[in-house]
Amino acid sequence: MDQLGALETLLQEDRVFRPLPGLVMEANINPQELASAYQLAAHDPLAFWENAALELQWFRRWDKVLDDSKAPFYKWFTNARCNIVHNALDRHIKTANKHRLALIWEGEPGDTRKLTYFELYRAVNKMAGALKNLGVVKGDRVVLYMPPLPETIIAMLACAKIGAVHCMVFAGFSGKALKDRLRDAGARCLITADGFYRNGRVVPLKPAVDEILEEQDAVDICVVVRRAGIEVEMHPARDVWYEDIVRHEKPEAMTEVMESDDPLFLLYTSGTTGSPRGIVHSHGGYMVGIHHTLNWVFDIKPTDIFWCTADPGWITGHSYVVYAPLLAGTTTLLYEGHPLYPQADRMWHITAKHGVSILYTTPTTIRMLMRYGNLFPRQHDLTSLRMLGSVGEPINPEAWVWFYQTIGRGECPVMDTWWQTESGQIMISPMPVGLLKPGSVSKPLPGVEADIVDRTGAPVPRDKGGLLVIKKPWPGMMQNVWNDPDAYRAYFEKIPGCYVAGDVARRDEDGYFWMQGRADEVINVAGHRLGTAELESALVAHRAVAEAAVIGIPDKIKGEVAKAFVTLREGVEESDELAKELKEHMKRELGPVAELKSVKFRKDLPKTKSGKILRRLLKAEELGTEPGDISMLEEE
Ligand code: WTA
Repeated sequence: MDQLGALETLLQEDRVFRPLPGLVMEANINPQELASAYQLAAHDPLAFWENAALELQWFRRWDKVLDDSKAPFYKWFTNARCNIVHNALDRHIKTANKHRLALIWEGEPGDTRKLTYFELYRAVNKMAGALKNLGVVKGDRVVLYMPPLPETIIAMLACAKIGAVHCMVFAGFSGKALKDRLRDAGARCLITADGFYRNGRVVPLKPAVDEILEEQDAVDICVVVRRAGIEVEMHPARDVWYEDIVRHEKPEAMTEVMESDDPLFLLYTSGTTGSPRGIVHSHGGYMVGIHHTLNWVFDIKPTDIFWCTADPGWITGHSYVVYAPLLAGTTTLLYEGHPLYPQADRMWHITAKHGVSILYTTPTTIRMLMRYGNLFPRQHDLTSLRMLGSVGEPINPEAWVWFYQTIGRGECPVMDTWWQTESGQIMISPMPVGLLKPGSVSKPLPGVEADIVDRTGAPVPRDKGGLLVIKKPWPGMMQNVWNDPDAYRAYFEKIPGCYVAGDVARRDEDGYFWMQGRADEVINVAGHRLGTAELESALVAHRAVAEAAVIGIPDKIKGEVAKAFVTLREGVEESDELAKELKEHMKRELGPVAELKSVKFRKDLPKTKSGKILRRLLKAEELGTEPGDISMLEEE
């Protein structure tokens, strides 16, 4: 927010959906339990989180739930000892979970691999032994430049098991991004693959790695997983095949005893503006935060097949593809390829084939699939689905309703979960037994104290937008920014006593939160401050529009005016009349302040590789300025 003062509310969304009675009856947390959880958490949040921690196994219990003596460097579960892998794998081997499926993996060409908890446990142990043999020790950073493969999960868990700190770099990132992260993390071991399948092509990875490693002599071990079967160069002193190093390892390995706040992983996030920051998450607090939220928000049952479509290289993948489903002892599904390959029904095909019961994806994916209409989903049996989820951007009510009706048969609640790389865990989200309002992330979960304030920290009135802040620490929170404690501190310094998330939101009369976009993208038209989300949602509600991005451009009279970039649905032609109609539509839907100065049609909107619309780039193009770091740009 560039100015003090509240944002306008434009969008009026009145639709409300109630959970089906059957779902409420069978929910892990019923409405009474939820009400008392809210009460306990409001009154004694540490007792609430302590209860959550007691659901997991610890090698040694904590002396204190929270040590805030060095705030904002909070320490959760002080002096407790644990290892997330003990809870995600080792303990399941002694229970009925042993022969349950831990992982269903599908490659883009259609090849499938399934691993039980026992099989995954043994594979992880072998890799843990192999890493130790290569000289990797507790505290070492290991960079994983890996596509979505079973070995990606195996390598992550193997690192954690021996106390090494994994640092995933999304395989779609360039060599330059890899180089920066290798340097910042100070890694000497890199794990990668020869290549992978994406959109019907083999994408080579190892050659890019070779180029980087020539100049990066700090890395002296490179483990290569064979996936694509392409010819690659292996440097005898540095490179080893995964299959060779695990072949003779024992299927048992020691799980390192970690302090609760020992780092589990680094994950680089760029925010919307600046250079990447290595967000540090720990074993103890992180494990409690994600285990609790998966159980409560997605109502996990042992029989579920949980498909979170995120790449393991994003935080959503770390928390809800890899760690939380395994902590819960459920089955997680991982897909290697592109959601439109070989055609736009791949996701429905996978859902039907494997009987996916919970599907957690992004607004971008939903809008993309919606663009292809209802025919594809209708060709598949989607009745195994019982719950849906969304994360990563504000979801437009139109896309929400399509997801709910067309994919969820009007029976599967949509959990629109708000959280961040920094938060580690879901923070604001509906619960399966609550009322759903399309486009609202509902309320902060019990134990999460969120508020909406202006730049001075003063609360903004109901139904006005302001900065979203978190007022109390939570267990899954980042522990630090790698090599940059000042960057960590900065999150807590803008408003005293608060974590400032960088998003703008408003709260309605029922206390439901509505995300309005990023704070640094707020548009100020003649003193009216508008979030991007509502403007874009109104555009997406027009039958011709598939996706929209709105930016503010400087204007002599009004300060700023809004300009829209729009992609159209299949079969719709762009025209000046349509642009005019969209401008009229906006005024009709949102009122005169929502006047668009101009509408530009585009074939695609620029997005980050994780699917977020890059408004910053549109703005730079428009103003002819420098766009800043664009290494996260999706080129497809
Ligand atoms: C945005 C992804 C609206 C928000 C887990 C946040 C959302 C950023 C939602 C974090 C949501 C995430 N509604 N906006 N349900 N979920 N965001 O670090 O701007 O990749 O700050 O973490 O995504 O993105 P990140």
